[in-house]
Amino acid sequence: MEYGKIDWNDVWNELVPAQQMTDKAGANSLWNKRDNAERFWKRSQGSSERTKMTLRELPFWSGSRVLDIGAGPGRLAIPLAKQVEHVTAVEPAEGMKDILMKNISELGINNISCVRKRWEDIDVDADLKGPYDLVIASFSLGMPDIREAIQKMEQASSKYIYIYWFAGTSPWETHSVNLWPYLYGTNYTCGPKCDVLYNVLYGMGIFPDIQTFTLEYTNIFSSMDEAMDFFRSRYVIETQEQEAILLDYLRDVLIQENGQLVERSDSTRVRICWEKN
Ligand SMILES: C[S@@+](CC[C@H](N)C(=O)[O-])C[C@H]1O[C@@H](n2cnc3c(N)ncnc32)[C@H](O)[C@@H]1O
Repeated sequence: MEYGKIDWNDVWNELVPAQQMTDKAGANSLWNKRDNAERFWKRSQGSSERTKMTLRELPFWSGSRVLDIGAGPGRLAIPLAKQVEHVTAVEPAEGMKDILMKNISELGINNISCVRKRWEDIDVDADLKGPYDLVIASFSLGMPDIREAIQKMEQASSKYIYIYWFAGTSPWETHSVNLWPYLYGTNYTCGPKCDVLYNVLYGMGIFPDIQTFTLEYTNIFSSMDEAMDFFRSRYVIETQEQEAILLDYLRDVLIQENGQLVERSDSTRVRICWEKN
């Protein structure tokens, strides 16, 4: 096999839209919804130890200018803003951007600027005020052309690039893999993982540091109705039959804990980082 001939960017480029097509509600619409953005923000407050650990490993100092791509509600951008000179948050999704703006205003932060665009639509010279000492993309690689996305990260950075991504099937992908044949009669296509990303970087002459870690993924629901609402917002549930399939599945996978229904699993993540030449 001539593995040297595999274009890993093509692999990424095929898998991202394929996942977005099979993701019936669409990955983008997920973060456009305010409820989902709020739930993400609450969950990230619950796993603040991991965020603290991430902040400890990121290279920044008081004079740093930081770019946070796909900043979400500001899990990293907000604590970073308190410790650096300036943070630019790129966030295309309406729900996430709303929660980010709410957090910024409630906390009286005045050194975060927000750009509401997808990374692939950003013109680094026109839309940003680079270069940035540190460029971060944390679990936000929803870009089909990852090579071009990385080239733009390099263009925007004067020193460090830190990417966080997934290894193996994520807990939410596992649900989709299990449910899709019953809900829609098709198989679910999972998104590209860190193996593809590493190969793209390697092909670009970038040999990054990689660190693997495990993160507990927990979702807590006060009732089955709340759980059904949450999963309905992720999938397209249109018939009584689909409703019954989802309910049966959730009865199987959610566990009772102190009167609540809990989804608890581990997901494997990676930190991929390098210093610009
Ligand atoms: C799982 S959240 C992560 C938020 C934050 N970076 C963190 O680590 O807590 C993923 C975020 O990436 C954003 N995102 C996805 N695709 C993107 C793209 N192509 N360009 C910019 N942001 C994107 C989503 O809108 C969402 O806010």
